Amino acid sequence: MLRTHTCGELRIADCGKEVVLSGWVQKSRNLGSMNFIDLRDRYGITQIVCDDKTDKAVYELAKTLSREYVLQVKGTVRERSSKNTKIPTGEIEIEVKDITVLNPSKIPPFTIEDNTDGGDELRMKYRYLDLRRNCVKNNIELRHRLAMMIRNYMNAEHFLEIETPFLIRSTPEGARDFVVPSRMNPNQFYALPQSPQQYKQLLMVSGFDRYFQIVKCFRDEDLRADRQPEFTQIDCEMSFVEQEDVLQMFEGLIKHLFKQEKGLELGTFQRMTWNDAMKYYGSDKPDLRFDMKFVELNEELQGKDFKVFNDAELVVGICAKGCAEYTRKQLDELTDFVKRPQVGANGLVYIKYNNDGTFKSSVDKFYTQEDFEKVASKFSAEKGDLMLIMAGKAMKTRTSLCALRLEMGSRLGLRNPFDYSVLWITDFPLLEWNEEDNRFYAMHHPFTAPNPEDYPQLLETDPGKVRANAYDLVINGTEVGGGSIRIHDREMQLKMFETLGFTEESAKQQFGFLMQAFEYGAPPHGGIAFGFDRLCSIFAGADSIRDFIAFPKNNSGRDLMADAPNVISDEQLEELYLSLKPVNK
Ligand code: AMO
Repeated sequence: MLRTHTCGELRIADCGKEVVLSGWVQKSRNLGSMNFIDLRDRYGITQIVCDDKTDKAVYELAKTLSREYVLQVKGTVRERSSKNTKIPTGEIEIEVKDITVLNPSKIPPFTIEDNTDGGDELRMKYRYLDLRRNCVKNNIELRHRLAMMIRNYMNAEHFLEIETPFLIRSTPEGARDFVVPSRMNPNQFYALPQSPQQYKQLLMVSGFDRYFQIVKCFRDEDLRADRQPEFTQIDCEMSFVEQEDVLQMFEGLIKHLFKQEKGLELGTFQRMTWNDAMKYYGSDKPDLRFDMKFVELNEELQGKDFKVFNDAELVVGICAKGCAEYTRKQLDELTDFVKRPQVGANGLVYIKYNNDGTFKSSVDKFYTQEDFEKVASKFSAEKGDLMLIMAGKAMKTRTSLCALRLEMGSRLGLRNPFDYSVLWITDFPLLEWNEEDNRFYAMHHPFTAPNPEDYPQLLETDPGKVRANAYDLVINGTEVGGGSIRIHDREMQLKMFETLGFTEESAKQQFGFLMQAFEYGAPPHGGIAFGFDRLCSIFAGADSIRDFIAFPKNNSGRDLMADAPNVISDEQLEELYLSLKPVNK
């Protein structure tokens, strides 16, 4: 070994020991008669000192060493005269006997510090250097710890980790597939899995009644802070279970992680139906770190002279505690916020509940103080509160108000990343109507079982109202996981395909192997998959999942370091029977 100790482990009790450390030069300072080097590795930083007692040649060498050189240092541990209480090794330093340069380094394009001078693009291009930074390294270590805890929990619960293929058949539904041309099968393509969904169900047919996998999934969709084209799922499936069994098992997993990693005991997770989540928070992933529940005001505010409200399907609002003193400018900012295309509202009405008990509103001329009093009482508003109201088509207004609610939550500091609100959303609709294609799509996926209370009658009469036997786990307003009880009954599956507009023929063509397998004794089964990258970011209180992935893609799906995707040679294209088309951008 090129070291006896790491750069993070020596303490005052080690004084006098002869040691060998290896690592990178974090910083080098020459103070005339003394030369200090901060030597860094994964474990920490240790100060290395050359002074007048150091061999002259070694001292001269030390003066030439700059940032990110890789060194091996031999020396003796001694107590520091001026101690650094900020780092665990801050009481000691190494009195140098010898230094070997294991490898020199070019000056890095940005500083290897938590507060680096490198911008996003530059850091992505030199990701291997970015990963040297403490804050990024800590995220990767967190990810490792969580992965180990997950494996331990799942193993203790008798789940088997089984790998499923990456080169699979492309299936419709869901997001767009990434495809891979097959050289040996001209003009045919594999798809990379969007999830191992069908394989894990096949494993249930095979009798592996508890499966999990920490597995890469691939989706060719538009990217955001919490979406990467390749991401990792904790993918799980169980046989002989009902919804309650799955929720209990995985509530256990999430509690285990919070306990182990953060020492937090989470109580029983709250549950909310999809309907309530939409009605009261305008989202299927409500952030419940703060309340600010929606209050519907059709009754109170329609039927007066305000046309916008009269014409609306829904009039709905939130109450921001203590915000009645908002200035004109602040209110204008909020109106501009809701009018942004991403939010898409036409406008915003406010009612201030002044400290003197009067009301001041942007729609004063249409309503009396008594009208406002009724509204305030519906909100349980108090003097000093600000009521913010929107109106329009029900669904659209709810999602716009959801954006405003989150904005107010942020402005009021109610979204502390280290407070945790964990809840299950249940009773999703089974189907989603698509106006463009004029057909239903499965909201989750076509193997999701309908709620037994709604099947088969409601599927015949009003498919859009059928609830799914599906659930999501939401933490702090992020969808962290989702799953369902699956259809294991062939008749029900055919009925489902029929509702989705597949003929038996076309369903067989797309999903034939799964349907065939189900003819050989499929057990009742269900499962869930968690977004592992999202889970890591939530544990670290971060918004973006990028820094929890060692080598992520940027928002255009590019790997800036390897410069991928990229062109391939004419020979490769030919071998794959592919030809290129000119691009009109
Ligand atoms: P679903 O599509 O809901 O379910 O995915 C499960 C979880 O994966 C995470 N996730 C993502 N994370 C990062 N980048 C992405 N592009 C991305 N897409 C999804 C989310 C999500 O909750 N087979 C089903 C699961 C099942 O039914 O068992 C599935 O894939 O956190």
